[in-house]
Amino acid sequence: MGKDVIIACDFASAEAVFNFLDKFKEEKPFVKIGMELFYAEGPSIVRQIKERGHKIFLDLKLHDIPNTVKKSMAVLSSLDVDMCNLHAAGTSAMMTAALEGLTRADGTRPLLIAVTQLTSTDEERMQKELLIDFPIGEVVMKYAENAKASGLDGVVCSPLEAGIVHDRCGKDFLTVTPGVRFADGDVGDQKRVMTPAEAKKIGSDYIVVGRPITAADDPVAAYRRCVAEFVG
Ligand code: C5P
Repeated sequence: MGKDVIIACDFASAEAVFNFLDKFKEEKPFVKIGMELFYAEGPSIVRQIKERGHKIFLDLKLHDIPNTVKKSMAVLSSLDVDMCNLHAAGTSAMMTAALEGLTRADGTRPLLIAVTQLTSTDEERMQKELLIDFPIGEVVMKYAENAKASGLDGVVCSPLEAGIVHDRCGKDFLTVTPGVRFADGDVGDQKRVMTPAEAKKIGSDYIVVGRPITAADDPVAAYRRCVAEFVG
């Protein structure tokens, strides 16, 4: 499994995403489709982007009872996505059911990545509202270990956590890391960021990059710069 740059295609419509992807004449970047685009356009958006030759990370963060997640994952798998995800908070019963649902008749399946605690959840809220009485860093690592024990392929985490996730879960356990910015770029609403070169050094397997590419004056050049720094 190679290191790669995944472009977060946080667009509201098929038209907007195709306008963006049309700029890429030589490369076929790995793209992330999130809830907004998927709910707006439905599964056909996945088929159309796939037909253009892109790999797809479908970021729908499933979290429901195991039977529902299993059946839903079977549907996503039939869309031939390359990576999808769920909330580790659904427990190991839900994660193993998800893997069963994802696995195709020929034994292949998309990569399955867990979300631990959302980065928008801070320790105070987690402890006071969710009654999880541990430091948030421990909770994140415990959820990563649960995901690994359930047979998942990796976690979404901050690039700052990628090293410790590998220490705890093994170097083959994938770290998919958003929060990436160029050294001379806008941080925007992200709080804890790293450059692609730093993310490479710390051992991220995939970086998820949105606005530094999608909002750049020259998105293709920004993508190439990311790839050069991260994949090298
Ligand atoms: O534009 P930007 O590079 O900040 O986009 C990052 C992408 O990664 C967005 O799609 C965002 O929703 C996603 N993400 C994140 N932080 C997380 C999990 C996902 O920024 N903890």
